[in-house]
Amino acid sequence: MCGIVGYTGDKRAAPFLLGGLEKLEYRGYDSAGVALSEEGNFQLLRRAGRVTQLKTPLEKLNSAAVTGIAHTRWATHGPPTEENAHPHLSEKKQWVVVHNGIIENAEELRRELADVKFKSETDTEVIPHLLEKQGEINPVEALVNTQKRLEGAWALGILCAAMPDTLFCACKGSPLLVGVGAGGTYLASDYAAFDEDVTTTYRLCDGEIGVLTKNTVCFYNCDGDIIDKSGEKFSWKEQRIDKGDYEHFMRSEIDQQPLALRQTLAQFFTDGAFSLSCELPEKPRKIWLIACGSAYHACVTGKYVIEELAKIPCETAVASEFRYCYPLIGDSDLAVFVSQSGETADTLAAVREANANGAVSVGIVNVPGSAIARECRIILPTKAGTEVAVATTKAYCAQLAVLYSLALHYVTDSKQKNAFQQALRRLPEDVQQVLDTTEKPAMDMAREIYEAEHAYFIGRNLDFSTVLEGSLKLKEISYLHSEAYPAGELKHGTISLVEEGTPVIALACCERLLPKTLANIREVMARGAAVFAVTTLDDIEDARGVITIRKTHPLVMPSLAVVPLQLLSYHVARLRGCDIDKPRNLAKSVTVE
Ligand code: F6R
Repeated sequence: MCGIVGYTGDKRAAPFLLGGLEKLEYRGYDSAGVALSEEGNFQLLRRAGRVTQLKTPLEKLNSAAVTGIAHTRWATHGPPTEENAHPHLSEKKQWVVVHNGIIENAEELRRELADVKFKSETDTEVIPHLLEKQGEINPVEALVNTQKRLEGAWALGILCAAMPDTLFCACKGSPLLVGVGAGGTYLASDYAAFDEDVTTTYRLCDGEIGVLTKNTVCFYNCDGDIIDKSGEKFSWKEQRIDKGDYEHFMRSEIDQQPLALRQTLAQFFTDGAFSLSCELPEKPRKIWLIACGSAYHACVTGKYVIEELAKIPCETAVASEFRYCYPLIGDSDLAVFVSQSGETADTLAAVREANANGAVSVGIVNVPGSAIARECRIILPTKAGTEVAVATTKAYCAQLAVLYSLALHYVTDSKQKNAFQQALRRLPEDVQQVLDTTEKPAMDMAREIYEAEHAYFIGRNLDFSTVLEGSLKLKEISYLHSEAYPAGELKHGTISLVEEGTPVIALACCERLLPKTLANIREVMARGAAVFAVTTLDDIEDARGVITIRKTHPLVMPSLAVVPLQLLSYHVARLRGCDIDKPRNLAKSVTVE
C-alpha cells in the first residue's frame, strides 16, 4: 500500500517520477505528490485523487530539478486530502519525506514533538520533524537515530536540504528497491516503476539505509556502519507491463490464465515426471492454509483437495484472525501461506507466528524476493507474471495450481495420483477451452443482473469455495452487493432476503453433490429467485441463464468454474461503468494490518 519513487541523476526528475507513480498506482490511488529539490529548496506539488491530477501542474512547473521523490497514497491516518498527501516537510524545510507503511507509535511521537505545528493528520509527518530535531549532524546518523524511534513498518524516500542532490532511503517491513543506471540512481517500491535506464537493482533489508547520488550508491546497516550489498541484473523488458489491445488489465489477465498455469506447472514437471523439488516434511500432522481475500479462497479450495486426495487434515485461517487466536500450531505442522504480492501485512505476521512456533512454513508467492518469500522456509512460486488489476484473476488461478500440486505431492494411492496428474497437465488447455466458450454467455448473464442491488452465490463443497471467489470478484469491482453461501445453508436465515427476481448464481459442477445442489436451486426458485447457473449439465430447468462448462477431474473443476464467474463480474462492472482495474477504496498490496 502506497507507492514511492525517487530519482537523482543527469535527467529532469519530474518525468520519471510521474511515470513511476503511474506504474505504482495499483498500490493506492487516494492522493499523489512530488517533491523536487533545487539547490536545497524543495518544491512540493500534491493533489487529492489520482496521479493524473499531478500531470498538468507538474508540466506547468517545468522544473529543471534533477532530484526528487514522489508518492501515491492509500489513506490510513487521515482522509485522502491534499494536506494529508505526501511528501511531508519538516518545519524549517530541511527534510522532506515520502513513506509507505504505518508508524504505530505516531501518537506517542506527536505528543513528544509538542512544540511542532503539525500540518497533516498522518503518522508519516513525525518522521521529517524527528529528523530535523537531530540538529545539524550527518544525515545518515540522523536517520539511524530516527529509525530507532519508530515502531511499525516503513519504506522511506527522503531529501535533505543540506545535501540537495542526494537521495536517502530506509525501510523496515515495507519493500524498497534501489536502481542504478547510466543516467542516475532510482528508488521504487516495485520493479515495475523503473525505466529502461536501470541495469542493476538492490533490495533494502529491514533497518538498512541507502544513500544515492547521481553515480554512487552506498548502504549502511541500522547502526550506521557501511555494508556491502550485491546487486541484481535488471531487465526492463521483462518487467514491462502492457495491456495490449485490451480495455482493462483485468480482462487481459483473465485471458493470461492458461499461460500462468503453464508456467506455474512447468516448474513441477520435468520430462513428464512430477516433483515439487523441495524438502517438505514426509507426513505433517496437519496442514495450515493461511491467507487473505482471494488467496484465502484458494486456501479453502486447497483444503478440500488436500483432504480428499492426500488424507491429511487441513485447517484454513484468515491471516488477520490466525495471529490473534492462539493457534495450536507446532513443529509437526506444515503452514502454507498464499499471497500474490508477498507483502500482505497480516499474512506476513502469520508467517512469523508460525515460524516462531516451529512449523515448517511454505510460501506460495507470485513476487520473488518479497517479504513473505524471504521469510518462509520453503517457496513454491506461482508464475503468473506481474498482475496489475487490483482484482486478482491469473494469480488466483496459479495459486490453485500450486495447491493442487501440493496435494499431488502427498497423495499415496498410485491410481489416484496418475488420474490427478493427468488432469493437472491438461489444465491449461481446459481453462483455455472454457475461456473460448463462456465469454458470450457471461456477457448475456451480466446484462440480466447488472441493475440488481443484491445477488447471492451458492454452491456445495468445491463449488462453495469457488463461489466465495466469484462473489468477491463481483462485489469488489462492480459494487453490486453479493454474498456467497454453502447451498444448503441459505435456508438457515439468508433465504428471507430472496424475493421475486433476486439473482442467485448457482454453481453446480461438483458431480457427487449435484442432486443436493439442484434441490437447493429449486428452493430459491420457489421463492421467486432468478437463478443463473454455471454447471457441467446441459441445462437446468427454469433457470434464467445457464453457462455449461466442460468436465475434468472433479478436484480441479474449481479452476474451470471460476472463469465464467470472473467474466461475469467483469461484464457487470463494465455495464455499471466502474473503474475496473482500480476499484474504489482498494489497493493491490495491503501492507497494513
Ligand atoms: C481480491 C484480491 C485480494 C487479495 C488479498 C491478498 O481480488 O486480490 O482479496 O487476494 O488482498 O493479497 P495477496 O495475495 O497479495 O496477499
